[in-house]
Amino acid sequence: MKKRKTPFDQIVETVEKEGYLPTELLTRLPKHWRRVGTVGIIELHTQLYPWREDIGHSYLSVLNELTSIVQKIGITTETIRTPGLEFIAGNPNTVTLHKELGCKFWIDALKLTFSTGNHAERQRLIKIVKEDEQIIDMFACVGNLSLPISVHHPTIRMKGIEINPYAFSFLERNILENHLEERYEAILGDNQTHTPENWAHRILMGYFEIKPAQLEVALGALKQDQGGILHTHGLTTHKQPTSWQKEIDRIIKAKYYNFQIGSIDRRMIKSIAPGVNHFVDDIEIVRIN
Ligand SMILES: C[S@@+](CC[C@H](N)C(=O)[O-])C[C@H]1O[C@@H](n2cnc3c(N)ncnc32)[C@H](O)[C@@H]1O
Repeated sequence: MKKRKTPFDQIVETVEKEGYLPTELLTRLPKHWRRVGTVGIIELHTQLYPWREDIGHSYLSVLNELTSIVQKIGITTETIRTPGLEFIAGNPNTVTLHKELGCKFWIDALKLTFSTGNHAERQRLIKIVKEDEQIIDMFACVGNLSLPISVHHPTIRMKGIEINPYAFSFLERNILENHLEERYEAILGDNQTHTPENWAHRILMGYFEIKPAQLEVALGALKQDQGGILHTHGLTTHKQPTSWQKEIDRIIKAKYYNFQIGSIDRRMIKSIAPGVNHFVDDIEIVRIN
């Protein structure tokens, strides 16, 4: 029986037929792509850059569910994070509706971060949260980590803080789109000054450059008579949860004497580059007297 052609086989065939790319470079075409809503994200070898627009059109001609193609150009490090993408083909309007885990996320896939590689973490959070919890998402973006929790748990109350007005506008839109306005409050501003105190059972800190001042704010945001859980994200090549522990112990000694670290559990979320992993630490903060 003849093997059915995969979408990638069809893309290679299209590029070959159109004849713009030197034959020896056909093997460099990306076999995988990610999708946020109707925006396809590809990573091109630098040798393919001169033909990126044509290549983008070839992918679009086969992948009918997509309207735009953007290419990955590395991650940026400024506070208001742009995902390091460049538009290459199709509809230049990259605002799209991404559906995942029963949630609807409106997002500008070119300008804002939505990591499809964090899917398992979004799923895990839905499983581990408890009914009636109050949760703060200190780096909310468009609701990437916190919307699925709210959608799946009607008894949970959420506050999401976002510093970038453009991301915040999508967060507000997504709260309405998912009918969460009664139990999800979006707060525009810097989490160092806009995080409520003594309110949360759990705090999401999905950001790679968490500052000690933000850990201090997070400890102050936990329910002071109970403690709670911090989910701190970071990049590492090591397996041991050393960095946050030292910093949190220092803050606890200086300011939150009734708290103590109960446990730290680290899990790897995804590989970012050879030898560099995105991790999350579940840090249990307990009240000791
Ligand atoms: C990399 S995105 C991650 C989104 C989501 N937490 C996740 O893990 O998928 C981080 C978001 O945090 C926001 N952010 C960075 N610093 C902030 C601050 N000081 N206060 C509030 N939001 C901040 C950025 O604008 C961005 O939208």
